[in-house]
Amino acid sequence: MSGTATFDEAGYRAEMRADWDAAGAEIVEYVDDLESGLGLVSRRLIELAGLRPGQTVLDLGTGYGEPALGAARAVGPSGRVIGVDLSPVMIEVARRRAAGLGNVEFEAADFGAVARADGSVDAVLSRFALMLATDRTRLFEGCARMLVPGGVLAAAVWGPPTANLFVTGLVALTRELGLPSPPPDRPGAFALSSSELIVEELRAAGFAEVDVEELVVPFRFADAARYAGLTQVVMPRGLHRLAVQRLGSEDALRELFERAAAAHLDPDGSLPLPSLAYCVRAHT
Ligand SMILES: C[S@@+](CC[C@H](N)C(=O)[O-])C[C@H]1O[C@@H](n2cnc3c(N)ncnc32)[C@H](O)[C@@H]1O
Repeated sequence: MSGTATFDEAGYRAEMRADWDAAGAEIVEYVDDLESGLGLVSRRLIELAGLRPGQTVLDLGTGYGEPALGAARAVGPSGRVIGVDLSPVMIEVARRRAAGLGNVEFEAADFGAVARADGSVDAVLSRFALMLATDRTRLFEGCARMLVPGGVLAAAVWGPPTANLFVTGLVALTRELGLPSPPPDRPGAFALSSSELIVEELRAAGFAEVDVEELVVPFRFADAARYAGLTQVVMPRGLHRLAVQRLGSEDALRELFERAAAAHLDPDGSLPLPSLAYCVRAHT
């Protein structure tokens, strides 16, 4: 996938980096909320990769260090984990969370440009990042090349938005502002929301066998306000600016997210937002 001729890859990457730098500055406050759902995905990816002590692992788009930190525990002191993320702010958060672990390091870089020696990595992990790549062909071919023969790519991507209640607030905002859906060939949260496409792209990149399974991420927030606060932190900055301008204030945006979430509240006021993920296991 390389997008259409008019797609500005460099501009997209700069925006992506700025978005996640902005999120990284505030996300620490929400890591526990997120991991109460996403922890399940990390555990499954580590299982699918079959990590063993002594192995070398790459985590692409590691964000605040997931699933790199779990992988570091799985490969033990004789193993090595390298987490890569475009956002230097996220990488700083990941480094702080890794304090005390001697076998994990983090690099601020574009995962499309990561170059390790051919056949030098036992497993590539990635949790909710591969669909953001500007050139998945290049990325997947690079992963296949860096892996040892029989090495494993274990990655999670989002299923379709209709099966993803985590984006309830953003769906409501898009409707409220009358914004069009993004073109289907552009990178984004739902660019790999088809198991057929995942299999096709990874097979074409040289992976011998590709399996995709569904996993429901059991997000649950203490209340709608907590969810609205997190959505304000992780939403793209351009959309945030537009929303505040059109709705009139940050408070109005928060209220819109809370109203959208209200339909899903449990009687105790907590907010379950189950969201479908695809977990992929591909080996060379
Ligand atoms: C949805 S977050 C997931 C972070 C983490 N893996 C997790 O599950 O919590 C996506 C991450 O991918 C990173 N990312 C996006 N495009 C990237 C690229 N081209 N190279 C490296 N990282 C990238 C972003 O900076 C962001 O931290």
